Amino acid sequence: MGPRAAPLLPLLLAVLGRPDPGRAEGCDLQPVTAEPPITLSYATSTVPRGCISSSSLGTDHEVHVLSVEWSKVSAVPLKVSLTPRTVGGCTRSVVLVLLCSRCSATVTSSCPDLLIRTDAHLIPGTTAALDPEPPAATGKGQLLAWAQGTYGGITSYSELRDPRWVQLRLGEDTGSPPDCIPQEHFNAALHLETEVFFHGVKGCSRGDTQSTRAAHIIRLQPEPSSPITEVNLSLSCPERPVSNQILILQSRANLTWSLSVNNCHIQFLVSGNYKITPISSLLLPGELLPDTEWGLVAKAFEKNYSVIASYSAIPASTRISLEIQEHEAVRRVPATPTPPLPTTKSLPHALLFTLEPWKCTDETMEIVIARSYLELIKDVVNITLRDISCQAEKNATHFMLKTPLSHCGTSLEGRDHATNELILNLAKGAALRSVRVAFQCKIPRELFLRLFPTAAFEAPQTELEVNKEAFVQASMQWEDHPADLQLKECWLAAPGREPVLLVQGGEARGAGVAVLEGPPSSRGRKVWRFRFTYTVPEGRRVPFSATLKCKAGLQNNTIFEKVLEVTVKDSWQLPNNRGLGLAAVLGITFGAFLIGALLTAGLWYIYSHTRPISKLQPVSSTAPASESSSTNHSIGSTQSTPCSTSSMA
Ligand SMILES: *[C@@H]1O[C@H](CO)[C@@H](O)[C@H](O)[C@H]1NC(C)=O
Ligand SMILES: *[C@@H]1O[C@H](CO)[C@@H](O)[C@H](O)[C@H]1NC(C)=O
Ligand SMILES: *[C@@H]1O[C@H](CO)[C@@H](O)[C@H](O)[C@H]1NC(C)=O
Ligand SMILES: *[C@@H]1O[C@H](CO)[C@@H](O)[C@H](O)[C@H]1NC(C)=O
Ligand SMILES: *[C@@H]1O[C@H](CO)[C@@H](O)[C@H](O)[C@H]1NC(C)=O
Repeated sequence: MGPRAAPLLPLLLAVLGRPDPGRAEGCDLQPVTAEPPITLSYATSTVPRGCISSSSLGTDHEVHVLSVEWSKVSAVPLKVSLTPRTVGGCTRSVVLVLLCSRCSATVTSSCPDLLIRTDAHLIPGTTAALDPEPPAATGKGQLLAWAQGTYGGITSYSELRDPRWVQLRLGEDTGSPPDCIPQEHFNAALHLETEVFFHGVKGCSRGDTQSTRAAHIIRLQPEPSSPITEVNLSLSCPERPVSNQILILQSRANLTWSLSVNNCHIQFLVSGNYKITPISSLLLPGELLPDTEWGLVAKAFEKNYSVIASYSAIPASTRISLEIQEHEAVRRVPATPTPPLPTTKSLPHALLFTLEPWKCTDETMEIVIARSYLELIKDVVNITLRDISCQAEKNATHFMLKTPLSHCGTSLEGRDHATNELILNLAKGAALRSVRVAFQCKIPRELFLRLFPTAAFEAPQTELEVNKEAFVQASMQWEDHPADLQLKECWLAAPGREPVLLVQGGEARGAGVAVLEGPPSSRGRKVWRFRFTYTVPEGRRVPFSATLKCKAGLQNNTIFEKVLEVTVKDSWQLPNNRGLGLAAVLGITFGAFLIGALLTAGLWYIYSHTRPISKLQPVSSTAPASESSSTNHSIGSTQSTPCSTSSMA
């Protein structure tokens, strides 16, 4: 999908003018306290206060102390997990001291020998043997001294604020300081990672606005020395779909955002590069965004989002999780009237222009979309083209649609491309009923070769039946001067056989080849047609593969060449009842009634011994090729076939 990124950019990145500081006026960001519109958490290894020490090395245990505080009562239990830093690292018994009053928690450990001292309410599922005793320390001030006195040493001490989960990596270092003396903003990366809730959400809306178009802004605070190069952001939206929202992600420019999106109709404006991971690993270039609060607010206004539903400035982090809340959706989305269709930069558009699921030839348009990609746009019920009677078929994994360019409302105003619209109809209850995505599908400037079984030139196939007329069409879009374009030559080649020249300089060459009149050139497209009959020497085993190769060219020797792989088959090998069909069987049965079972048995015997090289249908009299063929195989052979015999009877 890599090279297909280009068309996405103009749509996603339409930047019109520069943010105007004046426009941010009238919107003064204030903390959102009641019912914040989002739940935001991010991973970090920096704790407000913490320390490590080697003082536990001389004792019976390693001792990890966590002291948790909440700015707000958490609705979800805290998850604490303990894993050894190294494989097979469960060598010492572990003491976990967890001070977390009025909180519930689960503790899981991959090391068996664990003792927990906590005042938290432990939820069943916690792995270790419980010690119901809380730490005999009433506040964090005494905690360190109490643990030191009780266990003789402390491996790590961390104060945490609003953690969602904590992962402790067990292990001790001789190189740690001898005493655990807490430091502010302690980097605990060696032994701890935590994801913390962000409660500093701010918001505002422009005084004059009636609009429901809302922006969520996340700004990663610049940290010049930060080693972070990639951020995984997981975004989820409520069951009731959100629409008319934009997510603005600001970071330093050389950062890559990896967005995993669940159930959201939302637009993105991202600085740095980004990718939407369930769709592809394709990296999309972002756009430079202002790195100030008012600059970002002004940017949202410039995009006509006049409500700043949330503004969050958080430390640089490798993992961020953002949930847009249900009540936010209810508040923003009017209950009955269908919101207007999104602008050209919505997620379905971004998705489809990333995938570019359309493919055109000079005659057909084909659309194949893996359903897994559409999970982002939940509830796609059906997909049609502009002409809604052209509906995509679906199987377990894909939506598919193939149509002639002349159908389904396809427009060919531009000669080198076809235009149409994909209409995604969404399930009832979705905020949007349908999404229309206009697209252009490039008609490649190449020679197309098609093989048909009949002169109707319908339903191309790649099977070539021996001794039967086949019809070939070569065509090409040459908008400049179609008249200049000539069919130079066509060959049929098969391994172990001399290639057969069929057409040269626009004239029939091989025996049994006839050049047919093609449709007149139109829209700069030129079409050539001919028919031929391919014969194989008796005894040559079929099927085998062969290639039909044609060259078209301009007077100045520019040549376009195309090769079509075909399978040469005998008629009885072809599918679709074109071999011994029902009619033939009925004919045989009828013959049996007339001339007796014995003869029928004989005919069957002959049939079953001759069919690999015999024909069931009389050869069309319009096929002069076979009779005059230079090969020694003759279709008018004396071998009997059930059909010819019973028709004589
Ligand atoms: C915002 O709205 C104004 C007026 O409705 C319109 O002129 C402008 O093009 C819109 N801008 C964007 C980026 O959609
Ligand atoms: C982001 O997620 C991907 C896939 O889930 C993972 O391979 C990658 O390591 C993650 N990156 C970070 C920085 O966590
Ligand atoms: C596609 O789905 C929509 C919504 O369910 C429905 O109204 C419409 O009739 C469907 N279109 C076709 C062509 O089946
Ligand atoms: C569905 O159709 C697509 C496109 O023709 C094909 O590639 C895919 O294998 C099909 N899937 C199933 C489960 O039949
Ligand atoms: C031949 O002519 C076509 C246009 O008619 C032009 O695009 C092409 O470059 C020419 N080739 C040569 C080799 O002059």
